[in-house]
Amino acid sequence: MTSSTATTEYAIPAGVFAETVTEVQHYTDRLFRFRMTRPQSFRFRSGEFVMIGLPNAVKPVFRAYSICSPAWDEELEFYSIKVPDGPLTEHLQKIQPGDTVLMRKKPTGTLVNDALLPGKRLYMFSTGTGIAPFASLIRDPETYEKFEQIILCHTCRLDAELQYGRDLVAALKADELIGEFADQLVHYATTTREEGPKMGRITDLMTSGRLYEELGVPPLNPETDRGMICGSMAMLKDVKALLEQAGLYEGANNKPAEFVVERAFVD
Ligand code: A2P
Repeated sequence: MTSSTATTEYAIPAGVFAETVTEVQHYTDRLFRFRMTRPQSFRFRSGEFVMIGLPNAVKPVFRAYSICSPAWDEELEFYSIKVPDGPLTEHLQKIQPGDTVLMRKKPTGTLVNDALLPGKRLYMFSTGTGIAPFASLIRDPETYEKFEQIILCHTCRLDAELQYGRDLVAALKADELIGEFADQLVHYATTTREEGPKMGRITDLMTSGRLYEELGVPPLNPETDRGMICGSMAMLKDVKALLEQAGLYEGANNKPAEFVVERAFVD
């Protein structure tokens, strides 16, 4: 098979993994996901991110990508936006099975179960590609062992942009390993710029109380509720303000608390 863009004409830089793309799926003209081989020695915690690049330059451009696959998966999955003229995504969107993708060796991130105190309910607030780290966490049994209920909130401008999340949840229900946890997961997906079954920004749905009414749960309570937020800077700021208003405190790896925040990187 001929390689489309990620030719290996350039030497692989020291200290990075060079992995092979196994699957690519395009959702819209702005969104796609891909899977690639996982180095045997590579360990990460579900929800973490890594730096990804292509071997198409002497000094490849690397960008942060949340790993969408869970820690137990034998491959690695990523969900990406396609930015016109984006230094990495302009090329990355053209990858095909068999191509090489580079990955720096050290995963990191705050959207991990360890950064949260135990609780009853875990809200995952995401917009756009911010669903990526949650794709990992909702496929990790540890998440369901730590929390009784997981509420995956995903808001996009258009209905087609919700498809990745819908496919994930459907596949999870049918999965032999994690299907048993499906009853603990609620998928709350909304659109803002196209008619859909549920509409509105998550911040507005929280403020009006409609989110809690529709879920049939009490409003946010620091005793029972935990949060993880991943989206644009503006979205992070606004959701964080609402969690703080409800009495939840921001945590970190070395200081677990009631919620954690991470920017959806490539935008
Ligand atoms: P909206 O269409 O009302 O701007 P984007 O592509 O701009 O990152 O937006 C992704 C989704 O996040 C859109 O549905 C958008 O709604 C929503 N959004 C953007 N900014 C905020 C914010 N500050 N708080 C909550 N949702 C937001």
